[in-house]
Amino acid sequence: MKNVVLIGFMGTGKTSAGRILSNRLGYAFVDVDQKIEAEYKMSIKDMFASHGEGYFRDCEKAMVKKLAGRRHVVISTGGGTVKNPENMQELRRNGVIIALTAEVDVILERTSRRGKRPVLDQADHGDRRSAVAQLLESRRELYEQADYTVDTSHLSPMQVAEDIQSFLRREGAVRA
Ligand code: S3P
Repeated sequence: MKNVVLIGFMGTGKTSAGRILSNRLGYAFVDVDQKIEAEYKMSIKDMFASHGEGYFRDCEKAMVKKLAGRRHVVISTGGGTVKNPENMQELRRNGVIIALTAEVDVILERTSRRGKRPVLDQADHGDRRSAVAQLLESRRELYEQADYTVDTSHLSPMQVAEDIQSFLRREGAVRA
């Protein structure tokens, strides 16, 4: 059975839906960002601040390669993991790719706590809504590479997990 890989912009609910989905499938749950923070003993925010985004992307690439090699896992990626085609190649090798999307205002609301998302904080020159909208638009095609997409704007994490599980069953991609 294939891994399940969640891609999508910040605030689309990858981590919360991914955790629930992994329980329902009896798979392990792995979150790329959390694994990076544990391995490098540093928050993503501090990594951006002290080493820059390029360094973080290198760590992210190495972590994706490692996690993509595991079996029976739900992998929650970071919002920018899709930017590197090699990451997607690795993840697709043994994974079904599921994209989570959400409306701009929902993303704004869910990511309103400052200091947790350096990419947004650095793009935000006063008008956070247009920073989110622009970044989302610039990545839209990358998220569209998914095998299946769920708009999470008006769904609970449980409903998102159920929707994904139904898709996986229809595809014969999971047993549970
Ligand atoms: C990023 C999203 C973050 C994290 C990092 C960069 C991005 O993950 O990987 O701050 O470029 O969109 P979440 O999508 O889990 O917030």
